[in-house]
Amino acid sequence: MRKLSYVVACSLDGFIGDEHGDASAMLRFLDEEFTGFLTAELPETLPTHGRKALGVDHLENKRFDTVVQGRASYEVALREGITSPYGHLREYVASRTLGASPDPNVEVIADDLTGRVRALKAEEGGLDIYLCGGSRLAGALLDEIDEIVVKTYPLVYGRGMPMFGTGLDLKEFTLDSVRTFANGALVRTYGRKR
Ligand SMILES: NC(=O)c1ccc[n+]([C@@H]2O[C@H](COP(=O)([O-])OP(=O)(O)OC[C@H]3O[C@@H](n4cnc5c(N)ncnc54)[C@H](OP(=O)(O)O)[C@@H]3O)[C@@H](O)[C@H]2O)c1
Repeated sequence: MRKLSYVVACSLDGFIGDEHGDASAMLRFLDEEFTGFLTAELPETLPTHGRKALGVDHLENKRFDTVVQGRASYEVALREGITSPYGHLREYVASRTLGASPDPNVEVIADDLTGRVRALKAEEGGLDIYLCGGSRLAGALLDEIDEIVVKTYPLVYGRGMPMFGTGLDLKEFTLDSVRTFANGALVRTYGRKR
């Protein structure tokens, strides 16, 4: 089975952005050491335009070959005129309202989200599936998540958008690895306890 892995940036108090999801305050922690880690270990999670800016758009996919994101997260790119933010991956956008996809590399999932994600996970071979977020999509797919990679930055928001937009739903995970960075960032990888 291919894993569904939620790779997410959050504050010390567990928010993925401010109340509107704006995570730009976290960008200050993308220093040389942290960017080096991302390009070496999780290069697919960098958007295509970011990879170009860093001169790493030639990197082969290592962990993921597919990305799933929610319509609101996708719209962050659309507002910048970018219709294929993860052009180096197969892109799926969950939405009941978007209608036709604005890009040939992007497939819209309007119905049976769980079934579609289960089918992606059941595909033979290939790499894992990057769950990009945001909060509501991660909440909708919580049952299907096999791994969480939390990039925690030393920043408190006070209030903001939670990592999972869902009601009370207890799920247990086990800690697989921890990586620390000089700027106070922490990357923890958790596997799903089934
Ligand atoms: N810190 C981070 O690492 C990180 C990562 C990703 C995103 N973000 C932030 O998260 C924010 C967006 O998060 P969000 O929670 O507002 O929205 P979201 O999860 O990105 O998208 C929500 C939308 O996804 C669609 N959706 C959800 N469940 C579905 C289902 N079962 N079937 C079909 N479609 C479904 C719906 O689209 P329709 O309404 O069109 O039906 C829903 O409105 C952005 O501001 C982004 O910057 C932060």
